[in-house]
Amino acid sequence: MPLVSNNDILTPARAGGYAVGAFNTSNLEITQAIFEAASEKRSPVIVATSQSAIEYAGHARLRGMVETLADEADVTASLHLDHGTDVGDIERCIENGWTSVMIDGSHLSFEENIAITRRVVELARPRGVSVEAELGRLMGIEDEIAVDERDATYTDPDEALDFVERTGCDSLAVAIGTSHGAYKFKAEPRLAIERLSAIAERVSVPLVLHGASAVPPEVLELARRYGADLPGARGVPPASIRDAVRHGVAKVNIDTDLRLAFTGGVRRFLAEEPKVFDPRKILGEARQSMKDVILNKIELVGSSGRS
Ligand code: G3H
Ligand code: 13P
Ligand code: ZN
Repeated sequence: MPLVSNNDILTPARAGGYAVGAFNTSNLEITQAIFEAASEKRSPVIVATSQSAIEYAGHARLRGMVETLADEADVTASLHLDHGTDVGDIERCIENGWTSVMIDGSHLSFEENIAITRRVVELARPRGVSVEAELGRLMGIEDEIAVDERDATYTDPDEALDFVERTGCDSLAVAIGTSHGAYKFKAEPRLAIERLSAIAERVSVPLVLHGASAVPPEVLELARRYGADLPGARGVPPASIRDAVRHGVAKVNIDTDLRLAFTGGVRRFLAEEPKVFDPRKILGEARQSMKDVILNKIELVGSSGRS
């Protein structure tokens, strides 16, 4: 099917009380894993590319690959720019056929974030491209921030309402305790669900959860067994994701879990098949591991059968 904007995917999700996975890609095997899993589950899907993925693979190649696989897959899909920070880069994505963009002004002041988000909405809306914005800051355990200071980095519900009204953004990424990467929590994982609920009461656009990877124990264990050195890796438990979806999250961003599955798959294959040197066999194993993760995510967020 032709690519659609995130509005076509996320508006029904928020209304229906389920979420859709946004999976980061930068190569063929990841993209195949995404579309194979989505097709098998008849799930809508968001294919996300970061700015560095675009630098790695190129606009035309990424767009061509995602468009081709979406046409063959027959499920609703979008091509989304993840964490755009530069208006020029965002313009280039729109010119190159991206159907959704994120402007991440979370590092800016409130007013600066509003100003840059409005500029992107003005650019994108006439072309039917949806805009995700971010309010609040995702902090990692490496940020060494005290617990009482951490709250100040979370999204404020009243500010969220003001922000959405003044920017006209189509969806809003919120900071409620997750962070990017494989090291999300030092102690017990905890999301600020009451705060999320207060945001969802005020704001009707779909909410987005970044840093939503679970670092699944079995995926981590496989990678470790075959040599990966990842001490203290810890993600968001599936029950917390379910809770967040129940409280207004309609887009769940996953990158780290695919990276871990890729790594485990390649490591296991190379260790167990020392005579094989066919890249298709090595990467085929990684593709299957990532597909298994995505199948689980689709069930977790409730998007199965929605496309
Ligand atoms: O949220 C960030 C994504 O995981 C993308 O990471 O810039 O290394 O591609 P990346
Ligand atoms: P993870 O690092 O938890 O996979 O988060 C990915 C993400 O938020 C991409 O924008
Ligand atoms: Zn993110």
